[in-house]
Amino acid sequence: MQKAKGTYDVYGEYGRKVLALENILKDLMQVYNYEYFRTPIFESTELFHRGVGDTTDIVTKETYDFKDRGDRDMTLRPEGTAGIVRSYIENKYYGNPNVPSKIWYYGPMYRYERPQSGRFREFYQFGVEVFGSNDPLTDAEVISIPVNFYKMLGLKQIKVHINSLGDEESRNNYREALKAHFEPHLDTLCEDCKERFKKNPLRLLDCKVDKDLDVMKSVPKTIDYLNEESKKHFDKVCEYLTSMGIEYIVDPGCVRGLDYYTHTVFEVEASVEGFGAQNILCGGGRYNKLVGMIGGPETPGVGFALGMERLITALDFENISVVDEYSTDCYIIPMSDNEKAFSLSVCNALRMSGFKADMDYMSRNLKSNFKQSERLNSKYVIIIGEEEEKTNVLTIKDNKTKDEYKVELEDLVEFLDSKIDECDCCHGGECTCGDECHCGDECKCHSKEEK
Ligand code: HAM
Repeated sequence: MQKAKGTYDVYGEYGRKVLALENILKDLMQVYNYEYFRTPIFESTELFHRGVGDTTDIVTKETYDFKDRGDRDMTLRPEGTAGIVRSYIENKYYGNPNVPSKIWYYGPMYRYERPQSGRFREFYQFGVEVFGSNDPLTDAEVISIPVNFYKMLGLKQIKVHINSLGDEESRNNYREALKAHFEPHLDTLCEDCKERFKKNPLRLLDCKVDKDLDVMKSVPKTIDYLNEESKKHFDKVCEYLTSMGIEYIVDPGCVRGLDYYTHTVFEVEASVEGFGAQNILCGGGRYNKLVGMIGGPETPGVGFALGMERLITALDFENISVVDEYSTDCYIIPMSDNEKAFSLSVCNALRMSGFKADMDYMSRNLKSNFKQSERLNSKYVIIIGEEEEKTNVLTIKDNKTKDEYKVELEDLVEFLDSKIDECDCCHGGECTCGDECHCGDECKCHSKEEK
């Protein structure tokens, strides 16, 4: 049996990267004061038709649709925004006096796309949605989240593209301009584009078939059709980004492939050579009509989503590691079957005290057990024989310095606490502890600083 096309398994080093990034994102959302939402992976098909848009590639070509056993039309979510909006409305979150509602989410999304590097059929998105404020401050805050996150991780080769589609009036003016632009060239367009022309000319700009035609290269720019109000909004977003020191490019080609956007749209690109065509790390924008379209009270919204897989590729490209070196605090070796129960109880007690502890489950001899402790990169090894069990005095070996200690069982946690810290400088390794280290004078980082 093999995994389905366009999907992938997570394990080993990749799994550690995913977990580390998820934890950083969770912490970041605390800093930004966002609330966690989780919505179902499948929703009624109609939600995505109304939300993402009937004429988008995502809905017309890429959704996983199925009928459930009750003959209802269901769809695996291709993105997170529509579900969050549905949940916001259904749970009457618009009644929450704490406005704006700032929400984050994370989970798998499904699109039946042609798989290639950076493009999967099941992929993970982290995203935020902010409801209830039309202030350009919220557009700027939302854009700052991925930009700060990428900067925090150390990504250097990123570019922020922003654009504005304007309010309804501006969008209507632009739609007319697009129609006038394409009308004389309809014969040269692909069948899909002819349909797009009739139903939703903005989607002509997503066409992957006609993208090299001259008529595509000379399309009008949304920015030139903004009314005063929309222009003011966009100028403010730019001003606020500048005030946060965020560099951006105003890019008329950034129109996004989903129908719900109004005003600001943005994308962050990994501009690393060799990254491949799927180099958009995240995208988002404002959608002031979506809540109303899905049946809620007219409420402005703005959000973005980033893809986990492309992020990890970008980190790999820039040689950035987000995981600590794999290690264990203690590895416990029972000398024979007789000491297994006692060893397990010691291991259990250490785990309950928060140490990363493991033990021999394979009845290895002493030599292979030391090999195993090295594979686990264990800082300490505890050897338990008949004598140790009888006297409750344990033999503990520092795996790096090879120093040996005799420690009473009741003092074990205190002993390890004094030895094991975030930093491993006490074990002769590279210092990572900053200023404060439990081992004081003998700490190598302090002597390094003094030098
Ligand atoms: P999107 O641009 O369709 O926007 O997707 C956001 C991000 O998800 C992309 O920039 C990319 O990193 C990742 N992504 C999309 N499709 C795939 C795929 N097939 N394989 C791997 N990664 C992928 C949205 O989904 C909007 N809901 C964003 C948003 C939120 N707008 C407002 N709020």
